[in-house]
Amino acid sequence: MTIEEQLIKGVQEAVKSLYGLEAIAQQVQLQKTRDEFEGHLTVVVFPFVKAARKSPEMVGDEIGKYLVENVGDVVAKYNVVKGFLNLVISDAPWINLLNNINADEQFGFQPVTDNSPLVMIEYSSPNTNKPLHLGHVRNNLLGSALARIVEANGNKVVKTNIVNDRGIHICKSMLAWLKWGNGETPESSGKKGDHLIGDYYVAFDKHYREEVKELVAQGMEEEKAKQEAPLIKEAHEMLVKWEQNDPEVRSLWKKMNEWVYAGFDETYKMMGVSFDKIYYESDTYLEGKEKVIEGLEKGLFYRREDGSVWADLTAEGLDEKLLLRSDGTSVYMTQDIGTAKLRFQDFPIDKMIYVVGNEQNYHFQVLSILLDKLGFKWGKDLVHFSYGMVELPNGKMKSREGTVVDADDLMEAMIADAYEASKERVKQTSMPEDEAREVARKVGLGALKYFILKVDARKNMLFNPEESIDFNGNTGPFIQYTYARIASILRKAKEQGIDIPTELSTVNCQLSTKETELIQKLNQFPVAVRQAGTDYSPSGICNYCYELTKAFNQFYHDFTILGEADAELKQFRLSLAKAVAKVISLGMGLLGIEMPERM
Ligand code: ARG
Repeated sequence: MTIEEQLIKGVQEAVKSLYGLEAIAQQVQLQKTRDEFEGHLTVVVFPFVKAARKSPEMVGDEIGKYLVENVGDVVAKYNVVKGFLNLVISDAPWINLLNNINADEQFGFQPVTDNSPLVMIEYSSPNTNKPLHLGHVRNNLLGSALARIVEANGNKVVKTNIVNDRGIHICKSMLAWLKWGNGETPESSGKKGDHLIGDYYVAFDKHYREEVKELVAQGMEEEKAKQEAPLIKEAHEMLVKWEQNDPEVRSLWKKMNEWVYAGFDETYKMMGVSFDKIYYESDTYLEGKEKVIEGLEKGLFYRREDGSVWADLTAEGLDEKLLLRSDGTSVYMTQDIGTAKLRFQDFPIDKMIYVVGNEQNYHFQVLSILLDKLGFKWGKDLVHFSYGMVELPNGKMKSREGTVVDADDLMEAMIADAYEASKERVKQTSMPEDEAREVARKVGLGALKYFILKVDARKNMLFNPEESIDFNGNTGPFIQYTYARIASILRKAKEQGIDIPTELSTVNCQLSTKETELIQKLNQFPVAVRQAGTDYSPSGICNYCYELTKAFNQFYHDFTILGEADAELKQFRLSLAKAVAKVISLGMGLLGIEMPERM
């Protein structure tokens, strides 16, 4: 039983014995005692005043006395302020709590068993024509944090990714490479494969726009020019050849996609994200086509005169949705139907979560209805974890084309900034260069991850690199710094030969509120994990870690740990600090943020 549960039970017994009142647990209101009063937890006595026919002060006093006499191992003292009964909790239950926290390696996490539900979480899902950008960073961080949080709530999790590896976008890069590439490779150019292909995509666009401009200058309408430009026609021809399995086109496609994947892998590794199963659109789009034809035959969809296939969703309050073009080629939606089919064939999925930006809200609304119509029983309940846009303040880190911020460049810049920020401190300590680099990696990436994850996912946001790397305030580095500080205290204790047992025996030193509050905060970690799992909210974990870190710093500001003269109390405080470090590292671990042992 928790302290709160024991108190509630005690109060129920008190009012029964004192006033013959059968109170239900909900009638017993417990609050954290306000700072200006002595005590840890406060009972609101007003609900019992009527049955007692006494003043609130008297009722408080009687219940208080009863609790000290009957649950004395929990309640040490009490005082009454108006209708509020403030209880001072004795040391033993706090020590018990702390011992439990220290003993449980996976404190706050639900175990995953064979019978746990299986949740598939899709995130990342890039196209293969360009490298990952800032939007993908938010996506990957949210998706992988969500995966860890959902798993910590006792679910089996399959992390998945759908790579959109076919279509006109990749044909554009391929064509540009054929035309202007002179056989350039990642090796010959020294560029990461995804960057190389991205550069050709940009080159295509540049030449294409020139062609359109010229056609418009010759008097063609812009819309027509966009379709008639020779480059786009050529790209379309290439796509048709790809669909016909043309060996040359296919082998070029394969080669270029391999380059891109090698590049993506590096980015994922640096970011610390991974997948259990990756799907490729080239494997799923035909499955989708088949499903659409099936739906057509069942009368769920209809064919227009030009041969295209549509779903009429007007009855659902939506519009009509194209599923197959008149030439029989598939669209984005078709692929998603096929991908869903394969995924549910491969895994006994109980819940499917798609982490995709909010510009695709409509797409997933439609997908859910279509899957439902097609008879997938899970279609209706699919979750679109929809998140907002992320941008950098104007002028910061524009990529070469001046449009998007490249993920690799961003991570590199963050790590470089973290290195700069700690240069002076590193000089004063004897930290070897390779450790300093490793710390900078953890801090730079920690700053980036924390800053992005602390924001409610649904909101648009501005990522501010300078603010994120601040060592004070609601930032990753502030929390990492506090962790490193605790680690250093624990190291010193060890050097002094002080043993910190996992299981403390009860001390009797009247723990201060700062100390017991810190234990209370630690004890709320499981609640925070559960809440983050129910709300799908990594930001809830950020918040928790920040609050815990602040509470520790307040405690550390007011009390000494290693300087404490009382050996028992010193051991208690070390044990408390150790628990804080552990919970910080578990919480930040859920966010994919690593903790440096020194900083
Ligand atoms: N590759 C797509 C894009 O860049 C995102 C895919 C999202 N996932 C999905 N199942 N449709 O827009």
